[in-house]
Amino acid sequence: MADHDFGGIRIRHLFKIFGPNASSYIEAVQNGLTKAELNRKYGHVLGLRDINIEMPSGAIQVIMGLSGSGKSTLIRHINRLIDPTAGEVLVDGIDVVKMDETELRTFRRHQTAMVFQKFALLPHRNVLDNTLFGLEVQGVERSKAVDVAMRWLERVGLKGFEEKYPNQLSGGMQQRVGLARALSNDAPVLLMDEAYSALDPLIRTDMQTVLLDIQKEIRKTIVFITHDLDEALRLGDRIAILRDGEVIQQGTSQDIVLRPADEYVANFVKEVNRGRVVQVEAIMQPWQAGAIPGRTTIVAGSTVEEAVRNLASAPDGDVTVVSASGQPVGIVTFRQLASAMVNNQDAEDHRSRPLAAVL
Ligand SMILES: Nc1ncnc2c1ncn2[C@@H]1O[C@H](COP(=O)(O)OP(=O)(O)O)[C@@H](O)[C@H]1O
Ligand SMILES: [Mg+2]
Repeated sequence: MADHDFGGIRIRHLFKIFGPNASSYIEAVQNGLTKAELNRKYGHVLGLRDINIEMPSGAIQVIMGLSGSGKSTLIRHINRLIDPTAGEVLVDGIDVVKMDETELRTFRRHQTAMVFQKFALLPHRNVLDNTLFGLEVQGVERSKAVDVAMRWLERVGLKGFEEKYPNQLSGGMQQRVGLARALSNDAPVLLMDEAYSALDPLIRTDMQTVLLDIQKEIRKTIVFITHDLDEALRLGDRIAILRDGEVIQQGTSQDIVLRPADEYVANFVKEVNRGRVVQVEAIMQPWQAGAIPGRTTIVAGSTVEEAVRNLASAPDGDVTVVSASGQPVGIVTFRQLASAMVNNQDAEDHRSRPLAAVL
């Protein structure tokens, strides 16, 4: 990694048109020609339209959308497996689009690692040799590569499986190898395109936990693609939602659950367990001078679900929300918490109601 703080990924005014004369139509598309018109009149496919996303360094950026919405097209621009028709892809401040072949090769090897849905393991190599493959390509000395690979295999729970071959492993274990291989590269950017979508639900949840645990230590800039909202909400520090090649909404989990931008997003959000996403500050009444803190307290930043769990033994009481330093900053009732878990509107309503009305 570079010897300065990694600058994250900034995507600016990115457009992708698929077809032999893409550049002839870019101006028309920039001036508003729709995806449908471009296709009908000119037989070209609009992959992405004016994408602007700032992906902060050291965080997980989720890209979510239905099949065909442009997720893979977008992530492949980050290591330039796809060339844009227009726009910039700045990784740590450097525009990937402007790199020449040599720069691009170095960039791909050292700055990015990918985890694929289909694992992409080499069948004739054992787990260890699959894991250190990237290091081998980089020309890292064998004994050092083995050390690094063994460390990551242990970290993803595969200690003892080094000599196995991919076909001797379950899907979940193969994906652990894929993750260990990507982490062994020690690139600051980790690109994961539907990496967990082929896994059974329980295994998938396990793998999410593995990733979140490891991320606490490694603080990579991770771009994680999924079409599953639960996965997006669990993993994403920030989420961008794509439809037909356009960003419909971006923000935190809570932004998206509390304020879906349109019907498309609302449909995604409908079934979600809000209690796991909404934080107590979104529904609390601000603290008023002179009020007496209750016995049950919870730290700001906790979810509604966590607050309800704290109150389970005293469901008639209130929860005092406190700052990290222990100062009371607000108060929520059990009823508010309960309704926040089921009803989207309540979050906004309670906030604007005077404290007296809810006590
Ligand atoms: N090489 C290509 N040529 C033409 N159209 C493409 C190509 N790659 C993707 N597309 C189109 O771009 C759109 C987005 O595809 P993709 O990025 O694969 O979506 P997702 O990953 O969200 O399922 C789709 O309409 C798809 O058909
Ligand atoms: Mg895809």
